Amino acid sequence: MSDKKVIVLPGDGIGPEVLREARKVLEEANRHFELGLVLEERVAGGAALDKYGEPLPSETLQACRHARGVLHGTFGGPEWDENPSHKRPLTALLNLRKELDVYANIRYARPFPALLSKAPLKDELLEGVDIVIVREVTSGIYYGPKERRSSGRSFRASDTMMYADFEIERVARRAFEISQTRNKKLTCVDKANVLECSRLWRKVVRDLHREYPDVELEFMYVDICAMQLVLNPKNFDVVLTSNIFGDILSDEASAVLVGSVGVLPSATLGEEGQTSLFGPIHGPVNEIAGKDIANPLGTILSGALMLRFVFKEEKAAAAIERAVEKVLDEGYRSAELMTPGMIKVGCMEMGNLIAERLKSIAGQLKQT
Ligand code: IPM
Ligand code: MN
Repeated sequence: MSDKKVIVLPGDGIGPEVLREARKVLEEANRHFELGLVLEERVAGGAALDKYGEPLPSETLQACRHARGVLHGTFGGPEWDENPSHKRPLTALLNLRKELDVYANIRYARPFPALLSKAPLKDELLEGVDIVIVREVTSGIYYGPKERRSSGRSFRASDTMMYADFEIERVARRAFEISQTRNKKLTCVDKANVLECSRLWRKVVRDLHREYPDVELEFMYVDICAMQLVLNPKNFDVVLTSNIFGDILSDEASAVLVGSVGVLPSATLGEEGQTSLFGPIHGPVNEIAGKDIANPLGTILSGALMLRFVFKEEKAAAAIERAVEKVLDEGYRSAELMTPGMIKVGCMEMGNLIAERLKSIAGQLKQT
């Protein structure tokens, strides 16, 4: 494994344009903080399907395995929608999570002061909200046996939710550890009134709790959680949940609490020292691809998380986050974040602004 190697996977739709801006910002950080990172691009998703007939070519996977971090864009597009699941662009991301065994997906729902008016909830409900969602992403219904059968003119399809105890334990351990660095409150979200998988989750998480007695643990059904996230978001600190529930709740949290799915970054981590995965949580939004109107913030902030988690470059990571905040405070908005009175900028312009602010923040830090 090369110490400073980062693989970037632009993907499809708006992926390439948001990734280009994230790369610009990372390279700026690389220069000013002398990080020594080496960024290399590989092909995955629809682009790889077209070129090599598979969404995650083995050369791409190998390159990812040998890197410390992978920063991805978005995957998918209408041209591949009818493909069988192993030939769908999204499979690149799903296989990458599985192959790298990065089981803990971490998403922060922390409103930006400048975007409070964009989020649909009242400001007083949002001020002070700071939630981390720890989502299991290498198992569950995404990966269980699936099939489609036909008998006569009727079809039947199934997807299976399956969890092994060790898969629950390792991600729960991460969530407890994260809780210990924060307000020490962990909410485990499930559907234990109906699902056997959820009952196993409860058992494993309850047993593990003995090792983390300083953390307050509560269990909550996913339907209640979906409601509570909008009614009382301040009551949450760390949320631990399975693959599909985390997918849904994190979109809800980002759209309702932060104002858009376009600004939330994510980090997907395995064991210490393994390759980690970073990228935005939104989709490829193919309708606006190539028009330079996409919002690159989720991808840029994912780059910051990579500097923090993989390279332990806290200063550089925080500087990128400050640069994003500064640009938002100054009133610059991507089209999807526009509110009256703000200044609309394109994808590239947004990247340029953040890179410029980063440069001056880095300069100021050097003088102190
Ligand atoms: C996400 C995305 C993915 C998921 C898709 C692209 C497979 O929606 O990261 O939330 O469902 O995990
Ligand atoms: Mn999602």
